[in-house]
Amino acid sequence: MSQKIIVTGGAGYIGSHTCVALIEAGFEVVVFDNLSNSTTASLDGVARITGTRPEFINVDCADIAALRAAFAAHRDAVGVIHFAAYKAVGESVEKPLLYYRNNLGGLINVLDLMREFDVPNIVFSSSATVYGVPDTLPVTEETPLQPATSPYGATKVMGENIIRDAVRAYPQLRATLLRYFNPIGAHPSAEIGELPNGVPNNLMPYITQTAAGIRECLNIFGDDYDTPDGFCVRDYIDINDLARAHVAALRHMLNGADGVGTFNLGTGRGASVMELVNAFRTATGVDVPYKIAARRAGDVPAIWANADLAARVLNWHATVPLGETLASAWRWQKQVSGIK
Ligand code: NAD
Ligand code: WQD
Repeated sequence: MSQKIIVTGGAGYIGSHTCVALIEAGFEVVVFDNLSNSTTASLDGVARITGTRPEFINVDCADIAALRAAFAAHRDAVGVIHFAAYKAVGESVEKPLLYYRNNLGGLINVLDLMREFDVPNIVFSSSATVYGVPDTLPVTEETPLQPATSPYGATKVMGENIIRDAVRAYPQLRATLLRYFNPIGAHPSAEIGELPNGVPNNLMPYITQTAAGIRECLNIFGDDYDTPDGFCVRDYIDINDLARAHVAALRHMLNGADGVGTFNLGTGRGASVMELVNAFRTATGVDVPYKIAARRAGDVPAIWANADLAARVLNWHATVPLGETLASAWRWQKQVSGIK
């Protein structure tokens, strides 16, 4: 009998790729999603890749009554991966209460119902944003956290703390907090990928949309940072590698790891915006027109991960070369845009 995992937000970008990784690892997957930032087309893609369509329940995690009914139908689950959240940093500044209610209300409901139905394990989507502007690089899990610069970031810091307190108080719960660096790319089949709404805030979809002619020109935010080439540096992690880390985290807890584990998920290498643009050209043969624009408020000059802890404890590390990740991002964009 395969073990059942509830994946909240499983129709979204990271969630759908994680559904693939879970099914490929032999888990049964049930997706809880209210489709506020996705459609079930992603689950059709999961089905085409794996031959199995995850069961889908349209439910809002912030609605405890509806979520209780969904949990009751799946009380045999051995774990929850909690992706469901809003993630637009700028919007969170405009609508902080919406973000706190959705991201923290949803999390609290999930934890409460895990207790009620004896579902012991949770994997939580945290973010490198919790490190703010770090004093030392690369960042380890011991690097001090900085005060959040947006309500979105605050929901990740608070979410981690809520989970730590819950596990301390209810020892039947176990948790893994995964701090994602910058996930990019798509499944190599181009059946699933990232589908941003409107003008992308993030670099990777902006690059692929510019390459596809949807955007005229990439604005590179700042060329005068104190970095080797003056451009901001990030740790871009392949989405399929990131997805597999969730399986590793679950296995670790199912094998008996107690308490709360916290792990950076990155490649351990930084790349600047210009390096990414150049690597995209090398990987795809497509030139992305760009211009240098003003710095974007709130941007961290440079951050990349030390991911040794995940390698040591979860036996996970990033494997996909950057060029392959960029090629997959472009394959997905071409598929979405109907480009041959
Ligand atoms: P996404 O928007 O593609 O996926 C989130 C999914 O959750 C969507 O399908 C959405 O419909 C669903 N959802 C939102 N609120 C819900 C609710 N109340 N009830 C049920 N479903 C709800 O985003 P993603 O990029 O896949 O991000 C997944 C998680 O990872 C989020 O928690 C996000 O904050 C976190 N994260 C993302 C990144 C990134 O760069 N993409 C980086 C760090 C952390
Ligand atoms: C990457 C680099 C930009 C767009 C954000 C959130 C973080 C997490 C991931 C969810 C930066 C530059 C970007 C553009 C550019 N999200 N850039 N032109 O800022 O590292 O992180 O997404 O959890 O919380 O803050 O990612 O992709 O927006 O930017 O030059 O049009 O690309 O300045 O240096 P970021 P990003």
